[in-house]
Amino acid sequence: MKIGSFVTQGEAFLAPMAGVTDFPFRVICKRYGASLLYTEMINAKALCYGDENTFSMLEVKPEEGDVAVQIFGHEPQYMAEAASILSDMNRFRIIDINMGCPAPKITKNNEGSALMKDPALAFKIIDSVKKASKLPVTVKFRKGWDDSCVNAVEFARNAQAAGADCITVHGRTREQYYSGKADWDIISEVKKSVSIPVIANGDIFSIGDAVNIIEKTGADAYMIGRGSQGNPFIFSQIRDFIEGSPVRDIPDTEKIDVMLEHYDLSIKYKGEDKTVREMRKHIGWYLKGMYGSARMRDDINHIVDADEVRQMLRDYQLSLTQND
Ligand SMILES: Cc1cc2nc3c(=O)[nH]c(=O)nc-3n(C[C@H](O)[C@H](O)[C@H](O)COP(=O)(O)O)c2cc1C
Repeated sequence: MKIGSFVTQGEAFLAPMAGVTDFPFRVICKRYGASLLYTEMINAKALCYGDENTFSMLEVKPEEGDVAVQIFGHEPQYMAEAASILSDMNRFRIIDINMGCPAPKITKNNEGSALMKDPALAFKIIDSVKKASKLPVTVKFRKGWDDSCVNAVEFARNAQAAGADCITVHGRTREQYYSGKADWDIISEVKKSVSIPVIANGDIFSIGDAVNIIEKTGADAYMIGRGSQGNPFIFSQIRDFIEGSPVRDIPDTEKIDVMLEHYDLSIKYKGEDKTVREMRKHIGWYLKGMYGSARMRDDINHIVDADEVRQMLRDYQLSLTQND
């Protein structure tokens, strides 16, 4: 069932993750069944000033399908201008506003989750972005700032009144960062208090979690972050399960093929030097739990030559085939 024109009931989205959800990773998540894909967060002001690095983060491939671009900032006029620029690019489906980032370098500027402590400014931003955008506008926020400021329900109602077309709730306070357990009850309360679609977020690491979060929160869709790191396969496995098909276990050799493809896409996009450094974390995530991979992970963290990394992965893949 389509909700509005962009959220399909019960679907799994790829959460925005800075340093992770660039187009090479998104392309792979899409292939394995992610529905809507989110970019890394984009600095609205830097975009307005034409910052080259910021523009390079806006690359999108046709095979990605629907992509939501996420912006952050605290100045309504720059947020609006960024929304207008992004709308005119004709490559995004949605503009999402980041009101959940806990990082001090963001919150000290009254951006990200700090906006939950300054609701008047937050709603002015939503209103300005909505007026400037030709695309649907969504807002991603948290349970609240800390235990003494749990305001997701009120925040959600006001976000809706300010023009948000859809909201995502991560069931943790800013103070929790990513620790503890996400509170799905607050998502359920938010869902009951607004009429726009609600996307549930926090702690989906398995098929069971995906089924439970929809059941427990009544949310329209859900978003997976850390559970997709090194495991874009989670999307196809959830889809198999929901469709009643046998859930396909992904062989380690296939995971290495995906890793190599991810590596090559990244090299084309960012060049060798950046890829060698940035792909280390992805490789570590992909290799987790694979037989004898710990030593290789350490080695890869010290290698500076892309061909050497690729060769090492191919050799490892071959050794896995031979041990089968
Ligand atoms: C490495 C990393 C980067 C993140 N970057 C962003 C971001 O740019 N924008 C955002 O709204 N949330 C960001 N998040 C938060 C996730 O989108 C998500 O809300 C959070 O991880 C909880 O979901 P999960 O339990 O499925 O990981 C980031 C999380 C991680 C782990």
